[in-house]
Amino acid sequence: MNAPVEAGQLQPLNTPDYVKNTRLIEWVGRMAALCKPDRIHWCDGSQAEYERLCQQLVDAGTFKRLNPAKRPGSYLAWSDPSDVARVEDRTFICSEQQADAGPTNNWMAPAEMRATLQPLFDGCMRGRTMYVVPFSMGPLGSPIAHIGVELSDSAYVAVNMKLMTRMGRGAVEVLGTDGEFVPCVHTVGAPLAAGQQDATSWPCNPDVKYIVHYPETREIWSYGSGYGGNALLGKKCFALRIASRMGQDQGWLAEHMLVLGVTNPQGQKYHVAAAFPSACGKTNFSMLVPPKGFEGWKVTPIGDDIAWIKPDAAGRLRAINPEAGYFGVAPGTNLHTNPNCMHSLDRDVIFTNVALTDDGDVWWEGMEKDHGGQLPGHLIDWKGQDWTPEDAKAGRKAAHPNARFTVAATNNPALDAAWDDPAGVPIDAFIVGGRRSSTVPLVTEARDWTEGVYMGATMGSETTAAAFGAQGVVRRDPFAMLPFCGYNMADYFAHWLDLGHRLELAGAKLPRIFCVNWFRTDEKGSFVWPGFGENMRVLAWMLGRVEGHAGGEENAFGTTPRYEDLHWEGLDFPRSAYATITSLDRKAWQEELKLHAELFEKLAHGLPKALHRVKARLEERLAG
Ligand code: GTP
Ligand code: SPV
Ligand code: MN
Repeated sequence: MNAPVEAGQLQPLNTPDYVKNTRLIEWVGRMAALCKPDRIHWCDGSQAEYERLCQQLVDAGTFKRLNPAKRPGSYLAWSDPSDVARVEDRTFICSEQQADAGPTNNWMAPAEMRATLQPLFDGCMRGRTMYVVPFSMGPLGSPIAHIGVELSDSAYVAVNMKLMTRMGRGAVEVLGTDGEFVPCVHTVGAPLAAGQQDATSWPCNPDVKYIVHYPETREIWSYGSGYGGNALLGKKCFALRIASRMGQDQGWLAEHMLVLGVTNPQGQKYHVAAAFPSACGKTNFSMLVPPKGFEGWKVTPIGDDIAWIKPDAAGRLRAINPEAGYFGVAPGTNLHTNPNCMHSLDRDVIFTNVALTDDGDVWWEGMEKDHGGQLPGHLIDWKGQDWTPEDAKAGRKAAHPNARFTVAATNNPALDAAWDDPAGVPIDAFIVGGRRSSTVPLVTEARDWTEGVYMGATMGSETTAAAFGAQGVVRRDPFAMLPFCGYNMADYFAHWLDLGHRLELAGAKLPRIFCVNWFRTDEKGSFVWPGFGENMRVLAWMLGRVEGHAGGEENAFGTTPRYEDLHWEGLDFPRSAYATITSLDRKAWQEELKLHAELFEKLAHGLPKALHRVKARLEERLAG
């Protein structure tokens, strides 16, 4: 099946007999002729195949097998130091009209982009295997799921896709003879000459990268990177950029949101979806463990990164997690901040860019909290160099700040029973929130849907290591979708407003919308709010608002709980500290509104008037 062919000879397609979709076979043939791989391998998604590919990655030096006594079935990969995060400045939305990509996306005309990519992809897989990776985003065969097929010359991508999606033969069978799929082509952009071996265990193209989307024809082309969202094309490229555009056309939402179930001691269950920017706490919040004082409450994760949200026949918004695994931030994760996540990582994990311990296990910054603050005496850091606590003193991190784990959702001991339900779960509340050291209060409820959309639209957040570039700079990140919206952001706001308006007219009860900020700091730069499990206190207040009994106080921005409106049992959090993270500083807000104005100017073309009206009201309230 995998016999190499002579250079220049046309490789056999190796199509398995269960593949009946002529469009798929024809497309793979065309792409193989363009990319010129040495071999083609159709992934069936079996465990045996997964293990074979992992062994192959071990043999190639890309994977280290971790100590099976400590971390069974698990591997560690170290990327090229230049290939560690999404590359937003190399990400393109190639709609026919520039206006349809909007001012927040990089744009190039499709014809021009195709002409640019054609020579790059010609022969790009020479010396390598082309993996044909069929996958379903969402439960196999579900009416809300969609199929994609990724062609990639990276075995690392193939095994990650196995954990992150429903990958393999099942997805091909859903396609049948004439089913639709989103074609996704990926190459590390490092072809090998005849007989040449890889000089590195993480081939990529350090100079040329393109992450390209054609939203109208629903195609994805990715060149030059092997890392995360640049390469696992089902995730950001398909499930957010292409799917957001599909949702705009078809009346649904594809969002950068976690989804969780929360059950109160009376047994009532609610569902919440929350948009926080990259590396701002979605995984943590989705797996929250209720703290002391919340006995009898249960939080059950459904998804940690992406939600597809569609109205049902009754007009109720229902969400599914299109993914089947987590590609989560490792640093900062420990038994104190996220015990469910740590337990999910006990076995069968792919780690990327964390440090290796002397006994063949993994380590990252934050893990010392589980060992009484004790740092390991010696490690190999993510660059393959010796590391000791002396390096920590010098500020040299053992794990890259955007180091990640890949693991199947089914590894999570707290996983919601409905996580795989094709019908999805009904959403009772949306939360939006960024990482803001000042200005934005702990929690605020929007007075109505429009005000909630305004909160999402004007969200700001300090940038993190999840994207290549400067960190800690406040930028507007509407609905945490700035890097992920596949169309004009102004039209995206209109789509949110329209959807709410239509559902309301149809008599549906809309979810409440809340804005949160876990990240206010004091004058020493320390977080004031303890966060993590303690965020349950805020979540419980929101559910109290949904049920209609929790108190609050209106301010210029919306409704905020007074100190006595939160349940404090089990936490000693002084009133004065609470005041500092919930107070509205009029001056700071007047400055903040200038930034809203800047955003609105940028998005002026097509910006819904309703958002201007909310802003005007906010200005009046601040002045008054
Ligand atoms: P992506 O996968 O990049 O989309 O990010 P995510 O939103 O899932 O991020 P994740 O949950 O992995 O966030 C990781 C970072 O947020 C770490 O630095 C955590 O320490 C920090 N974090 C998460 N929750 C809290 C919190 O409640 N308080 C504080 N202060 N930090 C938090
Ligand atoms: C993010 O950056 O928001 C992620 C990680 O979830 S990646 O899949 O690499 O985009
Ligand atoms: Mn994300």
